Amino acid sequence: MPDRRLTHAVTDRDGTLLLKAGTRLTRQVMEASASRQAGAMATCRLLDYRQVRSDLLSFFAVPPYDLIFQEAHRQETLLEIAGDVVLPEPVLESLYHFREWDFYTYRHTLLVFALSILIARELIDDRDALLQEVMAGPTHDIGKLCVPLEILTKETPLTEAQHAHLRHHALAGYVLLSRYFRDPGILAAEVARDHHERRDGSGYPLGISIDNQMIDIIMVSDVYDALISPRPYRPVSYDNRTALEELTRQAEAGTISETVARILVALNRRAQPHFSQCVVSTERRGTPPSKNVYGLIDADD
Ligand SMILES: [Fe+2]
Ligand SMILES: [Fe+2]
Repeated sequence: MPDRRLTHAVTDRDGTLLLKAGTRLTRQVMEASASRQAGAMATCRLLDYRQVRSDLLSFFAVPPYDLIFQEAHRQETLLEIAGDVVLPEPVLESLYHFREWDFYTYRHTLLVFALSILIARELIDDRDALLQEVMAGPTHDIGKLCVPLEILTKETPLTEAQHAHLRHHALAGYVLLSRYFRDPGILAAEVARDHHERRDGSGYPLGISIDNQMIDIIMVSDVYDALISPRPYRPVSYDNRTALEELTRQAEAGTISETVARILVALNRRAQPHFSQCVVSTERRGTPPSKNVYGLIDADD
């Protein structure tokens, strides 16, 4: 097991300390932390939780996402799959916490989840396998609960220390989801831990090369949403064309999955071509927004 050590403490939504800064996340530590939850695990369907369904529908209507999500048949299929996703209540409460305190993260989480469903269904035929995979989408950033709000909502570039604290969300999410699902081996925990790693080993927290289908899907959806959505520190976001060009560039560089990037490009075409038939241009015609700080803080949603 690679040596993973917490740079900061992991606390739950109420601020209760779960693991101290400096803790090494060994198998024993993860298993002990997961088994400390007592009683039956209360769960609820994500889309039936408070206003999640209507929020999701309202996000679909906003450009450029309307191009991907507004087509009736596609939206119907997406909602049908999303409707089967059931999560432990502490996970749902944590997601909803962001609705109140950091709306960007809340919206981002749901949109990455929705994108991941459309992408995953191009790659996975078996319905049960698909459901197991997409369950890992809405929780990928849950570790942000352990990052101070003043860092998450800061309107200017982060300092190195703040950036390190933000990076902590990957391992914090791994700990929280292992605990809430009572299973350190669950895919959702793995996705939270590794979604900022990159295929060429250029990511974090460990800088290891990752080869996992669902992590590839979340990675690409995550970068795409980070580029096209308004962010606290960047009121002007990438236009859709430039964002897709940036994804294509990263795929060519071997940082993210080429297949997944291609699927996302195909989802953005009005003619809805199958991704294998979609011609991806390597021409660069878009321009990143002015005052662009993407790269300085590496799309750290
Ligand atoms: Fe993240
Ligand atoms: Fe994210």
